[in-house]
Amino acid sequence: MLPKWPMLLSLLAIFIFFSSFTHGGSQSHFQSPPLPDEYREEKNEDNVVFSRLFAEGPNVVVEPPVQSSSLLLAAKRTYRKDPLNGFNRYTGGWNIDDRHYWASVAFTAAPFFITALIWFVIFGLCLLLICVCSRCYKREPYGYSPMAYALSLIFLVLFTIAAIIGCVILYTGQEKFHSSTINTLDYVVHQANDTADNLMNVSVYLAAAKQLSVDRILIPANVQTDIDYVQTKITSSASTLSTKTAGNKDDIEHLIESVRVALIILSIAMLTLTFLGLVFSIFGMQIFVYILVIFGWILITGTLILCGIFLVLHNVTADTCVAMDEWIQNPTARTALDDILPCVDYATAQETLTKSKEVSYNLVDIVNQVITNVSNINFSPNFAPFYYNQSGPVLPILCNLFNPDLTSHNCGPAEVDLDNATQVLNNYVCQVSPSGICITPGRLTPTLYSQMAAAVNMSSGLYHYSPFLVGLQNCDFVRETFGDIYNIHCPGLLQYSKRVYVGLVMVTVAVLLSVTFWIIYARERRHRVHKKEPMSKLDEGVEVKEDKPTHEE
Ligand SMILES: *[C@@H]1O[C@H](CO)[C@@H](O)[C@H](O)[C@H]1NC(C)=O
Ligand SMILES: *[C@@H]1O[C@H](CO)[C@@H](O)[C@H](O)[C@H]1NC(C)=O
Ligand SMILES: *[C@@H]1O[C@H](CO)[C@@H](O)[C@H](O)[C@H]1NC(C)=O
Ligand SMILES: *[C@@H]1O[C@H](CO)[C@@H](O)[C@H](O)[C@H]1NC(C)=O
Ligand SMILES: *[C@@H]1O[C@H](CO)[C@@H](O)[C@H](O)[C@H]1NC(C)=O
Ligand SMILES: *[C@@H]1O[C@H](CO)[C@@H](O)[C@H](O)[C@H]1NC(C)=O
Repeated sequence: MLPKWPMLLSLLAIFIFFSSFTHGGSQSHFQSPPLPDEYREEKNEDNVVFSRLFAEGPNVVVEPPVQSSSLLLAAKRTYRKDPLNGFNRYTGGWNIDDRHYWASVAFTAAPFFITALIWFVIFGLCLLLICVCSRCYKREPYGYSPMAYALSLIFLVLFTIAAIIGCVILYTGQEKFHSSTINTLDYVVHQANDTADNLMNVSVYLAAAKQLSVDRILIPANVQTDIDYVQTKITSSASTLSTKTAGNKDDIEHLIESVRVALIILSIAMLTLTFLGLVFSIFGMQIFVYILVIFGWILITGTLILCGIFLVLHNVTADTCVAMDEWIQNPTARTALDDILPCVDYATAQETLTKSKEVSYNLVDIVNQVITNVSNINFSPNFAPFYYNQSGPVLPILCNLFNPDLTSHNCGPAEVDLDNATQVLNNYVCQVSPSGICITPGRLTPTLYSQMAAAVNMSSGLYHYSPFLVGLQNCDFVRETFGDIYNIHCPGLLQYSKRVYVGLVMVTVAVLLSVTFWIIYARERRHRVHKKEPMSKLDEGVEVKEDKPTHEE
């Protein structure tokens, strides 16, 4: 009678385990009737079994209600039962700040948590029963069947092999998952850092422009004030962006490392456990087998919980990917995603754009004024500051990129492109006497030339950063980042988190069955020994010795 106990138990456990998936995920344990479950993940078409394992409740039959106020992201995917709200459907969409969101995602892993509990309680009770009853059992006549013995040995070996394969899948999946999470994280940090760097560069240009003067003509005072103002804003935006990213990066990196270490330790522990269990069972070292059974009992409870956690993780990742994709299609709507990678606020971006155009315009304007009013005019030597013996062909004026109203300006045929301006102006430089008067033909002193070149450089620098500033303003850079995450990083993240999950489930089931068969095999083996030498005093002695520790557990 007794040896059937563990067998029944493990069958029960397996039944619960699988029925919890095949009956529509979380629903089967609660009041609602089983609903048709069809795993719908747009991008992934995997085999049916694992799709079912990933089922997270029916999201086919009922469509979520459409809410109008602010855009709900991944509303269909996140339409799950919410245990914090009487198992009603959660309708808030993707929102990692909402505890109802987390509760509803966590609920998708309920089968694992329940299985863990059932396993812990029932297997514990069975262990206790086996201990207590082994005395009464001993009085029963031994029934040895070579068939049962052989079968239990075969199953033991098979499940051990399955556990080893599971460990390998878990380990490799874990490595890939780790590198794909790190890559994604690096990419996001890189994007944010790049943006912050660009902002800092604009700020440096503005600061340099403020200091600039061409032939004693300074940037107008109101523009200087504007520069100060914008610079402060830009600096604070850039530093907020980089500190926020740096902080998040550290937190996430710690988490990723802990998950990695936990999974490696787990796969090694499971591998060791199954291997030792097999060896001890085959050599009939009963005490050690029972000690390992107790370890396995606790470890399996832990891995069942871990399976649940990984399922949650996978679902949250998938939700996030879908949310990003939906956000890209509606970038201006206010959504919960704004918290992750904040766009620099609209006002700052708009203001920076205007001011940088203004500064860019003013810089070229000053150069052109000097060219037309000073360099190109043949002053008599009495006009002291303006006269420096300028002579020779007149300078062309530079093409300003903006009109005075800051709309963009098309260059006239006589105007010099800013990209060529420094080369072109260089042709008009004269040699100067120590007093700063031209002694060769030319209309620019070297000092004047270098001031103009600097102004041109800054103006075109600011101009070239304006697409970046526009990108900030309409959140293009976030859109681009999310697009890259969705297209490049999401498939890997989802695939590998699934692989880790599959590995975990496989290891758990295989070890669970192995543990069961350690017990069954140990008993069959003992029957066999007793059958062969039923009267052997030696054997009797060995057995009493072997059994004692388990009574004490
Ligand atoms: C960007 O990253 C580099 C090195 O990774 C760092 O030196 C630099 O300060 C970062 N920039 C910002 C604005 O944080
Ligand atoms: C910022 O400017 C420096 C040189 O001034 C340049 O090396 C760097 O690449 C620029 N950064 C970005 C993000 O454009
Ligand atoms: C240059 O000349 C224009 C008119 O030709 C005048 O409006 C402007 O104020 C002058 N600028 C300087 C700096 O003299
Ligand atoms: C700028 O200079 C290059 C050669 O240095 C020339 O090919 C190009 O046409 C010039 N561009 C303009 C707008 O003058
Ligand atoms: C002014 O420049 C011319 C050359 O264009 C030169 O011959 C002349 O000596 C210069 N005058 C003075 C006072 O340096
Ligand atoms: C323009 O200014 C930047 C920063 O001040 C400097 O690194 C760069 O060499 C300058 N380029 C030219 C052509 O002067």
